[in-house]
Amino acid sequence: MNKKEEVSGLTTTKAPFIENAKKTGQLFIHQPYELYSEENQEAWRKLYALLRPKWERFANVKFMQGISSLCLKPDRIPSLEEVNLFLEPLTGFKAKAVSGYVPTFLFFDSLKRREFPTTITIRGSKTLHYLPEPDIFHDIAGHVPMHTDKKFADILVKFGSLAEQAAKRHAHLTNAAEKRAKIRSNIQALSRFFWFTIEFGLMNENNQLCVYGSGLLSSSDEIEHATLAPEVQRHPFQLEWVINQSFEIDHFQPLLFIVASFEHLYKEVERLEEWLLNGKLDNVAPGEPQISDDDVHVFLHLEE
Ligand SMILES: [Fe+2]
Repeated sequence: MNKKEEVSGLTTTKAPFIENAKKTGQLFIHQPYELYSEENQEAWRKLYALLRPKWERFANVKFMQGISSLCLKPDRIPSLEEVNLFLEPLTGFKAKAVSGYVPTFLFFDSLKRREFPTTITIRGSKTLHYLPEPDIFHDIAGHVPMHTDKKFADILVKFGSLAEQAAKRHAHLTNAAEKRAKIRSNIQALSRFFWFTIEFGLMNENNQLCVYGSGLLSSSDEIEHATLAPEVQRHPFQLEWVINQSFEIDHFQPLLFIVASFEHLYKEVERLEEWLLNGKLDNVAPGEPQISDDDVHVFLHLEE
């Protein structure tokens, strides 16, 4: 890799196209496919080759079906247009290019509309095995195959609608500090649920432990660690635990939760909705993730 390639491509944290989009306040962007460098394409090829045998060993059946329905190519980065050509007729979901972090409300609201905010950069060759930031491999090869499944797509849409309910349900409160604290707690609970299911979920499929969480499905080392390493704590999914459990994004997860099926997960999202509406998410345990004032502000603004 030479320096010129590195700065002219679409490498995560090093892409001038993305920096420029951020500077000019553009969140939803297009995918300038011609900017991918040979190093970027090589990163996709290597990641796909590393992950393919691990998916066959550890991924759930729906994910493997999704990989084949999307016709992802092992040898080149997909264009979002071609991904959507296969994806949209199946579940109505679409991948939509973004320049970076999507504020929490907007992210969940996009899911409600069956749009998936999708990172278009790809990790550099030095961080192939682990990257805390999302990239196109995480978003397209890790998340989108699951979006081809109707039940899973419905789970995301249902989950997405919770953000709107969280935004509106505190409108009657006159005490601003109380209102902010409750909204912050709601966002924290929703983010933790998302993290321990959609991002890092394990499933007991036909009495065999498998992976459906996209953070694991896009990490060649962690997918194996999550399923086999004796030091990982794996527990049956418990809603009361998950919403109160902190997590950190910069190292392998020490604690993971197992659902019995996608039907089970859907029921847990329904319970989460009940808990939200009953006020049971208004005072969850403090800790990670920290919810920014900007995130809270969007929710406050929406309830008005
Ligand atoms: Fe993700």
